[in-house]
Amino acid sequence: VSCSAETRTVVIGLAADSGCGKSTFMRRLTSVLGGVAEPPRGCNAYSNTLVGDATTVICLDDYHALDREERKEKGVTALDPKANNFDLMYEQVRALKSGVAVEKPVYNHVTGRLDPPELIRPPNILFIEGLHPLFDPRIRSLLDLSIYLDISNEVKFAWKIQRDMAERGESLESIKASIKARKSDFDMYIDPQKQYADVIIEVLPTRLIPDKGATEVLRVRLVMKEGVKHFTPVYLFDEGSTISWTPCGGKLSCSYPGIRFFYGPDTYFCDEASVLEMDGKFDRLDELIYVESHLSNLSTKYYGEVTQQMLKHADFPGSNDGTGLLQTIIGLKIRQLCEQIIAGDSSHGLKRKQLRRCLR
Ligand code: ADP
Ligand code: G6P
Repeated sequence: VSCSAETRTVVIGLAADSGCGKSTFMRRLTSVLGGVAEPPRGCNAYSNTLVGDATTVICLDDYHALDREERKEKGVTALDPKANNFDLMYEQVRALKSGVAVEKPVYNHVTGRLDPPELIRPPNILFIEGLHPLFDPRIRSLLDLSIYLDISNEVKFAWKIQRDMAERGESLESIKASIKARKSDFDMYIDPQKQYADVIIEVLPTRLIPDKGATEVLRVRLVMKEGVKHFTPVYLFDEGSTISWTPCGGKLSCSYPGIRFFYGPDTYFCDEASVLEMDGKFDRLDELIYVESHLSNLSTKYYGEVTQQMLKHADFPGSNDGTGLLQTIIGLKIRQLCEQIIAGDSSHGLKRKQLRRCLR
């Protein structure tokens, strides 16, 4: 599929540290958006992923200016802006947004070096995911929506151990050491980006059990800033009120430690926001429909779509907790945002076909 210069590409930034669930999130998002040719491999693969013909995911590691050897030599981590080419990142995202194809570099995670570049044509929806999508103000100004995955230290550590120890055979000591080595750059260059995000997903240890820092149950908060164009915050029961809800009655099976939802207004840095929070785990995913029926502004196409999406991907990490639920909801909101942007742009010569592709 080729896109002409009049095509408006919707650009969405997804920022997080590595190992914080970006690829998993992207798989949920692209499933909601449709047209998935293959699951995104995100930054864990060395090539950009084309998802169907409507959505493209670019891993920003492709803009590493220093390769692995050079980073080692200079004592610079991949999180340091010096290791990344923001000028090129900006130029290429801008070109794609305005309908122009680019020759994007390809960072090879196996060799730690750059492979030959690949041609990227402007898609309907472009996701830029990685360590720094919100770092450069020029790139921020191109984004139609920005998302930050904020995984607390305890949870990040637990996920890293699960992946790097179980799947990659690394030792506990080496995982601890690599987290420690990146910590100051993370605090300096990655974490501050969250203030610029329109939507933040915070993943924290549960408050439902007394053992502080327990990560087998998660408390997940969806922070939605007010006044974001084409994005209306989801709410529980009554928009603008403050509500704590324990839905464990006859309609939702809950085993220890139960499930608690919270909804209410909040501020995030200096911005007004609303927060939807879920603490706990679902026992039965099909009963999620009961929770769904109490949420509003979900941007679903039909009643039960959230539950259906969750059931469809029950094998993804986080499907029985707030990470899966809130990521799925964000996917639906993004679909609506895309539809609205493209419909609004029809005066610029966009055809109905374009809109249909986005709606799939
Ligand atoms: P990234 O793309 O940011 O590097 P991944 O999506 O590959 O991160 O996730 C890294 C690891 O974290 C996964 O292998 C998985 O074990 C764990 N993980 C990711 N998301 C979740 C989640 N929602 N719940 C539990 N574990 C998760
Ligand atoms: C981060 C970056 C990767 C990089 C990795 C390890 O996860 O996203 O691009 O490969 O750090 O960095 P290293 O310098 O060890 O290759």
